[in-house]
Amino acid sequence: MGRFSGKTAIVTGGASGIGYAIVEALLQDGAKVAIADLNKDKLAELEKLHAGSVIGRVTNVTKEADIEALVAQTVDAFGGLDFAFNVAGASKPGMIVDQSEADWDFTVDLCLKGVFLSVKHEAKYMKDHGGGAIVNVASLNAHVPMFYGAAYSSAKAGVEMLTKNAALELAQHQIRVNAILPGLVATPLTNGLTSVDAINEAYMERIPMRRAAQPSEMAGPALFLVSEEASYVNGASLIVDGAWAVTGYPDLSKFL
Ligand SMILES: NC(=O)c1ccc[n+]([C@@H]2O[C@H](COP(=O)([O-])OP(=O)(O)OC[C@H]3O[C@@H](n4cnc5c(N)ncnc54)[C@H](O)[C@@H]3O)[C@@H](O)[C@H]2O)c1
Repeated sequence: MGRFSGKTAIVTGGASGIGYAIVEALLQDGAKVAIADLNKDKLAELEKLHAGSVIGRVTNVTKEADIEALVAQTVDAFGGLDFAFNVAGASKPGMIVDQSEADWDFTVDLCLKGVFLSVKHEAKYMKDHGGGAIVNVASLNAHVPMFYGAAYSSAKAGVEMLTKNAALELAQHQIRVNAILPGLVATPLTNGLTSVDAINEAYMERIPMRRAAQPSEMAGPALFLVSEEASYVNGASLIVDGAWAVTGYPDLSKFL
């Protein structure tokens, strides 16, 4: 019997990286999990691997009908919905002066509208069934801009505010909504960048812990936020970044 036995969770973007680490941690704690992702093969594999505890649903989080169906199918399969982790995200990078409207729309739709649609339908169910807890995955880029990242950083800042707005509106329904803001996490999303030595070094210069996080290091904070231990944490942004956010000032230590 884990701390979440009898509980059901949705994890969007749960077929890879941070989302999958959250799925694994939920299963370990006894929850049933509905994984929503575009990766059909991986979903089928995970359904088989965790038969009885996982359903995988091909879901595009930017499509409202997909999210509505996801919530309905989760409730059908497991009898309720207690937690949701809105993790799906990616970006098409570009400098502002070069970025196409289509690439902007892709990034903002996926990272921000996808979270809005997810929260909307998860909360719609939860508010009529005793409440719940939702965690949205934003990014340190909600606070810190990056070259080629205007669309992504803007969308992630939007996710942070959407989280606060949702907490404000949903507290009356016993639904808590919080965000985690990861720094650098070793996943397929970042492997392309960090596999280039010079880029990896530039990251490490900024990150006091001098390493990327493993995806599992995001799962602990995310699960804490839905747990009873966090029963009064609502509308919060939990930065999980190895102290990266505090390195705004140049590193003078090498000169002392
Ligand atoms: N990796 C990092 O360093 C980092 C840092 C900060 C924030 N994040 C955020 O964490 C989240 C997860 O990132 P990750 O690094 O685990 O990436 P990842 O690429 O490993 O996983 C993302 C998953 O989302 C799925 N996905 C993509 N588009 C989708 C859509 N339209 N509908 C449903 N699923 C979709 C993908 O198929 C994939 O399984 C993202 O929101 C990302 O912006 C990541």
